[in-house]
Amino acid sequence: MKFFIDTANIEEIREAHALGILAGVTTNPSLVAKEKGVSFHDRLREITSLVKDSVSAEVIALDFEGMMKEAEELTAIAPNITIKVPMTPDGLKAVAALSKKGVKTNVTLIFSANQALLAARAGATYVSPFLGRLDDIGHNGLQLISDIADIFAIHDIQTEIIAASIRHPMHITEAALKGAHIATVPYKVILQLFNHPLTDKGIEAFLKDWSSRTEQ
Ligand code: E4P
Repeated sequence: MKFFIDTANIEEIREAHALGILAGVTTNPSLVAKEKGVSFHDRLREITSLVKDSVSAEVIALDFEGMMKEAEELTAIAPNITIKVPMTPDGLKAVAALSKKGVKTNVTLIFSANQALLAARAGATYVSPFLGRLDDIGHNGLQLISDIADIFAIHDIQTEIIAASIRHPMHITEAALKGAHIATVPYKVILQLFNHPLTDKGIEAFLKDWSSRTEQ
């Protein structure tokens, strides 16, 4: 399973990129709205100049024509822009049209296996099932990842599954075990993945022993 970062914050992207783990970036309108004083397109220029892998940029229009117009503007920013569209009939029409043009797409707000199958058959490069938001309403987000992974494997579907709406480290381990190809992870959770008390204890002991050594 690969790591994307789920943010529009350039500092977080820079830090995660420096870790050498980053295979892409996802943004959404809520994440972009948190970034004050910079235009969406300028921020995408900054991100794509740093990250050469997939950078998902979401359309705001809900109608097919509007989505296609926005997609054209967004893909003109950089060749590695992936167009993120909501899971709607117009969204899938846009996915079908964009995939014919060779533009990568990410179908977002996936909450059922049938939605994922539809998106894949329309030609989506990625589908984004939202784990945390399902868990929030008492459903099983990880079961959804598992179901989609099984269906895609049975039917030899190449669309990649992005585990999205990640809330904590166990979501990452479980999503990897259930067959997600990618997890898109908030920076805060990426940092949590490093933590283990025995790692801290081990470093402390090594440093203590090192400082008490006597040179032969
Ligand atoms: C994915 O592409 C979305 O941007 C994101 O994972 C949504 O996460 P949230 O439920 O924490 O807003």
